Order: sequence, then C-alpha cells, then structure tokens
Amino acid sequence: MKGKFITLEGIEGSGKSTQIALLANYLKSLGLPLVLTREPGGTPIGDEIRKILLDPANTTLDPRAELLLYAASRAQHLKEIIMPHLEKGVVLCDRFADATLAYQGYGRGLDIDLIRRLDAIVCAGLRPDLTILLDIDAATGVERARGRNNSRGLDREARFENEAIAFHERVRQGYLTLARAEPDRIRIVEASRPMDAIQAEIRKIVAKELRIQE
Ligand code: TMP
Repeated sequence: MKGKFITLEGIEGSGKSTQIALLANYLKSLGLPLVLTREPGGTPIGDEIRKILLDPANTTLDPRAELLLYAASRAQHLKEIIMPHLEKGVVLCDRFADATLAYQGYGRGLDIDLIRRLDAIVCAGLRPDLTILLDIDAATGVERARGRNNSRGLDREARFENEAIAFHERVRQGYLTLARAEPDRIRIVEASRPMDAIQAEIRKIVAKELRIQE
C-alpha cells in the first residue's frame, strides 16, 4: 500500500484530538498500518519544543522565534516519524503545516510568503494527501477549550488559549481561506454537531481517500 498522509486541523476546542483518536481506532480495527502523531511534538525533541511553545509563562516569546520553533519541531518530526512511516502506511497527524499558516500567518500576522518559503525548506514539497478541517465558531471553541483545561489542570499548555477571541477568529478565517484555495485537499467538517455525526462524516471522507469499502 502506498503511504497516505492525513492531517486534522481546527481552532482550539474544535474537538480535533477526540476525533483523531476515534478515527485512529477505526483505521486500526481495519488492520491498516497506521501511526498517530501530532505537532508540535511527535518526537522526544519535539516534545521539549512543545513545552516552550505552549507554556503560558512564555509571554515574551517573539512571533518569529515561535515560527522557527514550530519549524524545528516539524523538521525533527518529518525525519524521525513522518517520512519513515509513509514508506509503510498511513500517517495520521494532529496538526501540520496548515496550522503554521493559520496561527503564525493569519493569527499573528507574519508574512504568508515567508512562511511558505520556510515550509519549502522544512517539508521539501511534502504536503498532506488529505486534511480535515474541523470548523467551529471561535467563541464556542475557545470556551470549550478553556473549560476543559481548567477542569483537567492542563493550563501548562494554555498559552494560545489565553489569546483574545479576535486572534482565534483570525485563525479560523485563515483556515477557511486555505480550504477555499485547496478544496480537494482540505475538507471542511462542521464541528458544532454531536461527536458521532462528526466522526461519521470524517470516516466517509477518509474511507474514500484510502479506498476502503465502508
Ligand atoms: P494542540 O493544542 O492542538 O496540541 O496544538 C498546540 C497549539 O499550537 C495550538 O494552540 C495551535 C498551535 N500551533 C501553532 O500555532 N502553529 C503550528 O504550526 C502548530 C502545529 C500548532
């Protein structure tokens, strides 16, 4: 089987991590060779970088430093995990390069062309075969994410959740702009519905891409 690279994207609280875990279980139950991974992180070095990026104490992190840390995590991830596993099967990744365009580009306002040039260096032309974009209203998503983190004591990763709603709205609109530019690759899934309805739609899209008979 030729490897397939599938990514999930969306703003905070879009339900991405829950949905990707359900999707991974489904694909594993079919016996597909699969690795489930995420960015930032996915490797021991990437996980160290993730701590810096998401630590709410790092209020002075420069946006260009932030951009380069995401790129560093991605370069390591590509080399250690993504490229080797694409030889064997499916790589399912919770966020990838579209997140950098959405967050550092549309969210922070860094130059989109600069980010694309950096992407060309880091990814050397590799792009996901399929990207599922879980779309949700920014206020609803952020409220969900903040509630979840407070109840689980996860505020060590809350640096982005602490951003104003206007930031998340720009990120959301950025993702939608990317999806409109590449409608065949980036598929928008409406994420304010019940969990199982969202999962059913995701499975349908992924099954088609992987040519699985449902
Ligand atoms: P997560 O909470 O989905 O694991 O993602 C971590 C945070 O990192 C999330 O707020 C989005 C942000 N992010 C970027 O800003 N740029 C990127 O390139 C990636 C991969 C994530």
